[in-house]
Amino acid sequence: MEKPKVVLGVSGGIAAYKACELLRRLTESGHDVRVVPTEASLHFVGAATWSALSGNPVSTEVWDSVHEVPHVRIGQHADLVVVAPATADMLAKAAHGLADDLLTNTLLTARCPVLFAPAMHTEMWEHPATQENVATLRRRGAVVLEPAVGRLTGVDTGKGRFPDPVEIFETCRLVLRRHSLGRSVTEPDLTGRHVVISAGGTREPLDPVRYLGNRSSGKQGYALVRTALARGARVTLIEANTGFTDPAGADVVHIGTAAQLREAVLKAAEDADVVVMAAAVADFRPETYAAGKIKKQDGQEPAPLTLVRNPDILAEVAGAGSGARLRPGQVVVGFAAETDDVLANGRKKLRRKGCDLLVVNEVGEHKTFGSEENEAVVLAADGAETPVPYGPKETLAEVVWDLVVPRLG
Ligand code: CTP
Repeated sequence: MEKPKVVLGVSGGIAAYKACELLRRLTESGHDVRVVPTEASLHFVGAATWSALSGNPVSTEVWDSVHEVPHVRIGQHADLVVVAPATADMLAKAAHGLADDLLTNTLLTARCPVLFAPAMHTEMWEHPATQENVATLRRRGAVVLEPAVGRLTGVDTGKGRFPDPVEIFETCRLVLRRHSLGRSVTEPDLTGRHVVISAGGTREPLDPVRYLGNRSSGKQGYALVRTALARGARVTLIEANTGFTDPAGADVVHIGTAAQLREAVLKAAEDADVVVMAAAVADFRPETYAAGKIKKQDGQEPAPLTLVRNPDILAEVAGAGSGARLRPGQVVVGFAAETDDVLANGRKKLRRKGCDLLVVNEVGEHKTFGSEENEAVVLAADGAETPVPYGPKETLAEVVWDLVVPRLG
């Protein structure tokens, strides 16, 4: 089988060195990668590095090997173009259709999915010029990842950091996966949508060293995040105790307890089109928190543990009972982990919580939690039931988005 052809465009930012890791991931996973750096980027990483790592010739401008018409052919034959890092200047050129070097020509001739991983200083990212260019590119179907928040070049910290290259690779893989399944990836169907996803499991502290927790790994939530990003969504991930690296392009809020999760979800949901509660939320928390470690006393039975109910976040977001949503038209998705009477319990839960979709799966010692695969039935408030056979959690995530998209206003 022919290897998928990927063009890695590299523009002139210090994060160019991190794109070497992205290139390595792409080549090692069986992609034929042609690196097209800008002239400026060669100040950071030289052509010899790109050529050696990709195994392909490298040039920056349109005057090399003119007989092969590279300014047209490279873009025409690509299955994916990923520009990483994408500077403010590159986003501006791409948005306005300038074509003064090989990479910008490639962007104009490419008819495949195009993904930008921006990296720049916070001021440049937040500048209205950049924001308008990003909006233009997204409107045209490009996937533009949000930069990460963190340390920037020098002593500055803020939004603008190049996302983790391994995570950018994951997004590339998912975009190509959709492409290979014949799905439209040049018109991502979640573009312009704000999606809020909770993932992981909450922990309710008893004292400074102990907590009540659950066995949710967060993998299904992360699969939802990554697939939504690959479909063009702006994603806010509310992360609960997973320990995973932040997905490239998502705004991430790290929380610990159910109360913190509730606060973060309600805030992010204010302008969300979709809220997906994939996190396993503790239904109960200890009534009291001991400021010091609880010690055992010789000859004494342990003190009984009194628990109190946590609020049901999903029911609150879905407007259970009243049906009132935080934002009109918002689509709300819940998950149900069941051990017995799986479907019957799922149907009851869907009605009780008032959400639009409920992903019901059976859980047990070796089922679902922590595994890479999942099997589920997605129940809809309108009565539709969509079984999803045992398979990768990404496949289930794609089915969820397929069911969400037609329900969006
Ligand atoms: N959920 C929530 N807030 C809670 C408990 C659960 O938002 N306090 C959400 C979960 O994120 C999930 C859904 O509700 O999307 C179902 O969670 P589940 O634990 O299966 O249901 P429960 O309401 O806890 O019902 P029960 O434990 O009685 O089965």
